[in-house]
Amino acid sequence: MLVLRFAHVFFGALWVGMMAFQTFFLMPALAEVGPDSGKFMAALMRRRIPVILPIVALITLVSGFWLFQRLSGGAAAGLMRTPMGMAFGSGGAAALVAFLLGIVVLRPAMMRSIALAASLASAAPDDRAKRSAEIQRLRARGAMTGWVVMILLLYALGAMAVARYL
Ligand code: HEM
Repeated sequence: MLVLRFAHVFFGALWVGMMAFQTFFLMPALAEVGPDSGKFMAALMRRRIPVILPIVALITLVSGFWLFQRLSGGAAAGLMRTPMGMAFGSGGAAALVAFLLGIVVLRPAMMRSIALAASLASAAPDDRAKRSAEIQRLRARGAMTGWVVMILLLYALGAMAVARYL
């Protein structure tokens, strides 16, 4: 139980913290820098962020649903009828949707834009303009989804923070 709670709170804090840094600081800064950001993004990828972040999120989710199951003593529907259960449950659901959006929309958009940015230097001049436009489109989609993911995660964090006092 101690290990489960530790893993949940520890990796949950890392997940929200990493996403907040990415959404509020890293993405706007990269958009400002423009084409020069390619090298930096490649260096970031070598540190395996696209692998580490989903693992951190998965540990939080699995431990969270496990904790919820234990807290409910097998009667999840009953727990959901209490204010505390509603907060843990809705926060958990928000975190799950955030994870799915991250995997299905955000991650592919970012990976494709990074691959395109890396290929810009070797592209023919007329192809370069087309690829740059595609990169902008993908980054805009990534930024937009990043905000939605962030709102869901902040809701989850807030709900978890107060659930026991409701
Ligand atoms: C963004 C992701 C998440 C974050 C940052 C997070 C954060 C936290 C924190 C800080 C606590 C401690 C609250 C306290 O002791 O009063 C907690 C507890 C809890 N969380 Fe989460 N959580 C997340 C996702 C989830 C998910 C997906 C579920 C699944 C339903 C969940 C279920 C729970 C439960 C049941 C507890 C109470 C554990 C206990 O009995 O002590 N959490 N969470």
